[in-house]
Amino acid sequence: MSAGRGNTFFIHTFGCQMNQADSGIITALLQAEGFVQADQELDAGIVLLNTCAVRENAVDRVEHFLQRLQGRKKREKDLIVGVAGCIPQYKREEMFSLYPAIDFLAGPDTYRTIPSLVEQVRHGGKLASLEFNSFETYEGVEPFRQGATSAFVPVMRGCNNRCAYCVVPFTRGRERSQPFISVISEVRKLVASGYREITLLGQNVNSYCDADEGYDFAALLDAVSREAPLVRIRFTTSHPKDISESLVRVIASHANICNSIHLPVQSGSSRMLGRMNRGHTIEEYLEKIALIRSIIPDVTLSTDIIAGFCGEQEDDHQASLDLLSTVRFDSAYMFFYSTRPGTLAAETLEDDVPEPVKKRRLQEIIDLQNRISAELFHESIGTVVEVLAESESRRSSKQLMGRTAGNRAVVFDRELYECGDLLHVLVTRATSATLTGRPVQ
Ligand code: 5AD
Ligand code: SF4
Repeated sequence: MSAGRGNTFFIHTFGCQMNQADSGIITALLQAEGFVQADQELDAGIVLLNTCAVRENAVDRVEHFLQRLQGRKKREKDLIVGVAGCIPQYKREEMFSLYPAIDFLAGPDTYRTIPSLVEQVRHGGKLASLEFNSFETYEGVEPFRQGATSAFVPVMRGCNNRCAYCVVPFTRGRERSQPFISVISEVRKLVASGYREITLLGQNVNSYCDADEGYDFAALLDAVSREAPLVRIRFTTSHPKDISESLVRVIASHANICNSIHLPVQSGSSRMLGRMNRGHTIEEYLEKIALIRSIIPDVTLSTDIIAGFCGEQEDDHQASLDLLSTVRFDSAYMFFYSTRPGTLAAETLEDDVPEPVKKRRLQEIIDLQNRISAELFHESIGTVVEVLAESESRRSSKQLMGRTAGNRAVVFDRELYECGDLLHVLVTRATSATLTGRPVQ
């Protein structure tokens, strides 16, 4: 291996928490081969973009980075640029002609090949490693983690659903789960290293299945919670079809499992859910919400919702607004639909809602949800909440930012507290996104 800057790498991560976790896996794989992580892109001889293809604007952002890197490559002939994750898996070798900056491509199942791809492209040429491997769970790779408070543990990868709008089944392939024993051993190491929060990750985390050992997600969560009794346990993302009563009872019965569930709904209209191929109606979704709330009354719920999917009429949109008013989610990720070539929707449905209408509907959804979040957050004023301190606040080094068990962000006076501390905070102010307060004994 050549010495000096050529050995150093920097990863830009786009997209979801799964991608953040994957960047930790890629970092560990490169470090194991003697590569060194740089503090900033300009110090690195190898620049990697770990990408997301889920929405058009995520792809646009990566495109922008690649254009900039093309400029850098003109000045620095030995700079190596790699693109990993969902975009190369989706666009494949076409990427090389679209973006001349790229030296190599690696998909979500081929991160193990990245160190050797780097070595090979040093000798010239462009390489793509884009095979699917439905057995790859990256078992045995201990991801590099930033910070020592919160850790992601990917427990399953891929998606067997076929939501009509979604590229994930095409980019990440079939579902496969990390063996139970391997999850538990990772959790033990995290406990021993002093982590205070563990988030179990998967595209459909609650379809986790270790058939050999007989563990479904409820059993896994139960075991993880027992293994790490002083650690906050979270999980994301859940699919409504896999919310079972046994899972909800496990969440309710362990103090350390956060009473917070992210449950994407996508639309409030059963007609749209049918067109989206979600596999459930809105009534079935609401039954799951009722089940969760009957067993965990103080649960906080969040969701994903798409405005302007193919064929969406004003009354479907109204049904989405009504759903937000009925459920009163704590927060939501809200998007307008962008067609993704190759998906069921792109192949079989017409993207017929004009862009200004999509954007207007999205804005109505955002305005309503912000109002609901603000109302819910205001109810916390005057109460004392338990907060895990995560980082310095963005505004001031005299304040820390942390989260409640319900996943609400809380900014509070630092005093003598450090990241990783669990403390009580009296809430004095609230917006639709953040609580503010001061520590109390
Ligand atoms: N257009 C808009 N939003 C999408 N999502 C997935 N695919 C699309 C698309 N084509 C949203 C869904 C999903 C979240 C991760 O991204 O709400 O839950
Ligand atoms: Fe995409 Fe649907 Fe799978 Fe989620 S469940 S990753 S939205 S196909």
